[in-house]
Amino acid sequence: MTRIVFVSHDGVTTEIEASDGDNVMRAALAHDVDGIIGECGGSMMCATCHCYVDDAWADRVGPRADGEDDMLESAVSELRPTSRLSCQIRVAADLDGMIIHLPESQT
Ligand code: FES
Repeated sequence: MTRIVFVSHDGVTTEIEASDGDNVMRAALAHDVDGIIGECGGSMMCATCHCYVDDAWADRVGPRADGEDDMLESAVSELRPTSRLSCQIRVAADLDGMIIHLPESQT
């Protein structure tokens, strides 16, 4: 299990234990984390799983997936260099303690 800390737009933190091999979007939904919708179920068709990887972790999650940039363009909240689709971030032990910031809105 890998700990992930979500920080809402207004600063509320929620720490979860996610299963390795899962993706961050599904882990958030499984733990009722507000601020992630994941409308398309992780098939990179919606951008309602938009998140900002904390600067300290941005290099460790790896680059955006093919097509992720295009889908992020349709995200409702501002894009940042650390913007990711959380469904494209695979949970792994080396991400233990990762901090994910949530946008103000997904819709
Ligand atoms: Fe739809 Fe991630 S859940 S793009």
